[in-house]
Amino acid sequence: MSDSPLTPLCSIISLLFPLLLIVIIFFFRRKHPRLNLPPGRMGWPFIGETIGYLKPYPATTVGDFMEQHIARYGKIYKSKLFGEPAIVSADAGLNRYILQNEGKLFECSYPRSIGGILGKWSMLVLVGDMHRDMRAISLNFLSHARLRTHLLKEVEKHTLLVLSSWKENCTFSAQDEAKKFTFNLMADHIMSLDPGNLETELLKKEYVTFMKGVVSAPLNFPGTAYRRALKSRSTILNFIEVKMEERVKRMEENENLEEDDLLNWVLKHSNLSTEQILDLILSLLFAGHETSSVAIALAIHFLPGSPRAIQQLREEHIKIAKAKKEAGEVELTWEDYKSMEFTHCVVNETLRLGNVVRFLHRKALKDVRYKGYDIPCGWKVLPVVAAVHLDPSLFDQPQHFNPWRWQSNNNGSSTTCIEGSCPSGSSNSTASQIFMPFGGGPRLCAGSELAKVEMAVFIHHLILNFQWDLADETDQAYVYPFVDFPKGLPIKVHRHSLI
Ligand code: HEM
Ligand SMILES: *[C@@H]1O[C@H](CO)[C@@H](O)[C@H](O)[C@H]1NC(C)=O
Ligand SMILES: *[C@@H]1O[C@H](CO)[C@@H](O)[C@H](O)[C@H]1NC(C)=O
Ligand SMILES: *[C@@H]1O[C@H](CO)[C@@H](O)[C@H](O)[C@H]1NC(C)=O
Ligand SMILES: *[C@@H]1O[C@H](CO)[C@@H](O)[C@H](O)[C@H]1NC(C)=O
Ligand SMILES: *[C@@H]1O[C@H](CO)[C@@H](O)[C@H](O)[C@H]1NC(C)=O
Repeated sequence: MSDSPLTPLCSIISLLFPLLLIVIIFFFRRKHPRLNLPPGRMGWPFIGETIGYLKPYPATTVGDFMEQHIARYGKIYKSKLFGEPAIVSADAGLNRYILQNEGKLFECSYPRSIGGILGKWSMLVLVGDMHRDMRAISLNFLSHARLRTHLLKEVEKHTLLVLSSWKENCTFSAQDEAKKFTFNLMADHIMSLDPGNLETELLKKEYVTFMKGVVSAPLNFPGTAYRRALKSRSTILNFIEVKMEERVKRMEENENLEEDDLLNWVLKHSNLSTEQILDLILSLLFAGHETSSVAIALAIHFLPGSPRAIQQLREEHIKIAKAKKEAGEVELTWEDYKSMEFTHCVVNETLRLGNVVRFLHRKALKDVRYKGYDIPCGWKVLPVVAAVHLDPSLFDQPQHFNPWRWQSNNNGSSTTCIEGSCPSGSSNSTASQIFMPFGGGPRLCAGSELAKVEMAVFIHHLILNFQWDLADETDQAYVYPFVDFPKGLPIKVHRHSLI
């Protein structure tokens, strides 16, 4: 019956509603004229497709999620990840574009949990001027000049120290040994901590707990890995602060500080607050330790699969070692390092196939248009560098460990794809445009050169002194999304002397 007072209201609403919708759509259209988002799906509310994206997979592959999405949507697709709408890019050109336009069109944007644990002054989360200043300090400390004069020596010292502890015929975790090496090196270089010293060992233990939190879900409840890591963080910071106060005291007493480490350098040459120095040191310890140790473990894992590469490495390093012996030299020089041509190929190939850092976190600062697609302002943007390194249209047989693909045999032409490995019909990009294991642009890894020196010097002494076998062939690197060998990469070694 029509005497219900609701009926006219209902009919007005039902009339107005479509009108309202049209008005909303009209305004939305005006604000975003013909937005052409990349294809893709947003998945579940809030979490979106995060669970699928983060599902572990072997490090030498792009993973099922990525493979299926690329097959369905192409190399640029939209999704919802880490609680935000995101554009995922497996496209070499877009990745490069994103990294080159840091601070202009895109900006570094790591999940809040990373800032919570690494600190708000950590290099990984800083942007703008503060990032520039912190970066300048790190670069100064990891400069080419210092690499030649200081770091190369320290790298060799710590390599020999770790290798000398390896026992014949015993099975041990190569990943742990690589971690020991890079941790000792960084702790020495940053704060002059002695390897094997009780406090260094305690710090290392604390650091392991800390690391588990960095990579765990950021749930701050009693008993979670994240909570424990936050506790470790403060223990580590306390430790560094005590070191720092000792130095400051000595400085005030006009004592000449002899340690040539990062701590002294920042105290003498920078205006950073205590809190800033602590976060800087912690983030350098993190950035310089977790990554290069994984890279070394990956090389130890890949090489036994290619006896020909091992043979060629032996020849290269025997030659260097023999020449040094005849010249009466003991320590490796920068020229020796530079002469390790084939080793550099092995290093690049290890980084290409193993992909220590899989993808980077960015966000769009403006509406950006790329190859006809729109990337809306504020969206997360994830350049997946690993997907480019494993792209069969850019690298011939990408799953294959083939250091020779890096050998220059293209007679000086600079516009081929990776020399010697161009599949027919592939694009003409140069290696530096598509190979980005250290990121790129204004945030290119500050320690990339150090990391390569670490890998090459470690390989030098490893090859000259040991023959090794993988004790568990099933243990391969997985992406969690940090790269890790679940069983620690057990190996068995035999000492030999090739010179
Ligand atoms: C194989 C080993 C390594 C790999 C694959 C690697 C990779 C990367 C990548 C991809 C970035 C860029 C992150 C981003 O743009 O969001 C980065 C940044 C950085 N890395 Fe490395 N890294 C390695 C070793 C090292 C070492 C040994 C150090 C020495 C302390 C180091 C220090 C840094 C620092 C300080 C940054 C921040 C740079 C900035 O934000 O300006 N890395 N690294
Ligand atoms: C190493 O161990 C194997 C058995 O595991 C044994 O046959 C071999 O003699 C050992 N070699 C050395 C040098 O101890
Ligand atoms: C330290 O701060 C002072 C004043 O705030 C400034 O003049 C000086 O240039 C700064 N030094 C460095 C190394 O940043
Ligand atoms: C390794 O890759 C870098 C780019 O990151 C390139 O500049 C270098 O020439 C490569 N090394 C070799 C031996 O191809
Ligand atoms: C490079 O030059 C050598 C001789 O100069 C030739 O034998 C070889 O085929 C050339 N390689 C390519 C890729 O052009
Ligand atoms: C690649 O080739 C295209 C057309 O063949 C050309 O327009 C482009 O400039 C080339 N890129 C490089 C880096 O040589």
